[in-house]
Amino acid sequence: MKYFKFLLPATLLLNSLAFAQSKVKNFTPGAIWPDNKGVHINAHGGGILFKNGTYYWFGEHKIAGGAGNKAMIGVHCYSSKDLYNWKDQGISLSVSEDPENDIAKGCILERPKVVYNAKTKKYVMWFHLELNGQSYKAARTGVAISDKVTGPYAFIKSYRPNAGFMPFYPEGTPESDKVNCEQPKNKSEGFFCRDLPGGQMARDMNLFVDDDGKAYHIFSAEENFTLDVAELNADYTGHTGKYSRVYAGHQTEAPALFKHNGIYYMIGSGTTGWAPNPARWFTAKSIYGPWTYHGNPCIGKGAEITFGGQSTYVLPVSGKKDAFIFIADKWAPKDAIDGRYLWLPITFKGNDIEINWLDSWDLKIFN
Ligand code: DGJ
Repeated sequence: MKYFKFLLPATLLLNSLAFAQSKVKNFTPGAIWPDNKGVHINAHGGGILFKNGTYYWFGEHKIAGGAGNKAMIGVHCYSSKDLYNWKDQGISLSVSEDPENDIAKGCILERPKVVYNAKTKKYVMWFHLELNGQSYKAARTGVAISDKVTGPYAFIKSYRPNAGFMPFYPEGTPESDKVNCEQPKNKSEGFFCRDLPGGQMARDMNLFVDDDGKAYHIFSAEENFTLDVAELNADYTGHTGKYSRVYAGHQTEAPALFKHNGIYYMIGSGTTGWAPNPARWFTAKSIYGPWTYHGNPCIGKGAEITFGGQSTYVLPVSGKKDAFIFIADKWAPKDAIDGRYLWLPITFKGNDIEINWLDSWDLKIFN
């Protein structure tokens, strides 16, 4: 009998040793994705930063059940050299135990993204923040910084961006797209003008750092009727007041930007809560636009619901040409921790893109 006392811990130890040696060798979209400890990766609505030969994946740490749709823990970070095998680096931004804090436990903290600022040598994290107990009403953005990539990140502030600033209109913007707050022409302009004094709503979001080192915050504004592409200041911790309105009047969420052959690409989704809907893609010659809408990039079975997912990031694969991975979340709102990740390669057809479903694939697809 006494041997049983040792048998169970020994079996657990052997199992974890066996797991530690069994390397992940491909992407299996929608499947459980174990980290180095054998635990399903917990980094939803995430983004990836590549720094000094290592990828860092930051995402929402979710807990089990419906409660997991709120931020009970914070932002989880993982690291990887090969994109298949991820090491748990722990919580990089923790929610606060102080109920008065903007990022109090129980708030909604979504879609965290991290960029590195070469000038300040700081890592800067932005996220969508909804204050505790206010559902999705606050529509703020939050920012936190760290000297170390994995954190801990210190929360700085949360707010609605670009208060008092009118949009920048890139060359080629039709007169009919310009807002006149004395006479808003439609619903989205009405929301824009309502929010002008206090700052624009900022919900689903992403960050993009251009070749010249300028960083941009792209977010759903105006009750999600418009996407704003907004310039960040030189240290990436605030907005400059320069921004453009993209695809106004159509509700778009989940923006993910990338650049290929000098063209800016953006993939987004419709606005149907946690339920999947068709993805949409856009291109532009300047980051501020005008952006051209191209419809749904997904092809084949399940394309009409983005294969069950919603865009969250597009990852350029380091060292490979024309290699971009479309990353989506397959949400599980009833048991948030069970959300899955869909990683699929982007196929270029000239300057057009396609996303096809694959049950399993690896980076050799880009060779
Ligand atoms: C869709 C968004 O993309 C998610 O980040 C989240 O805000 C859900 N809506 C909430 O319903």
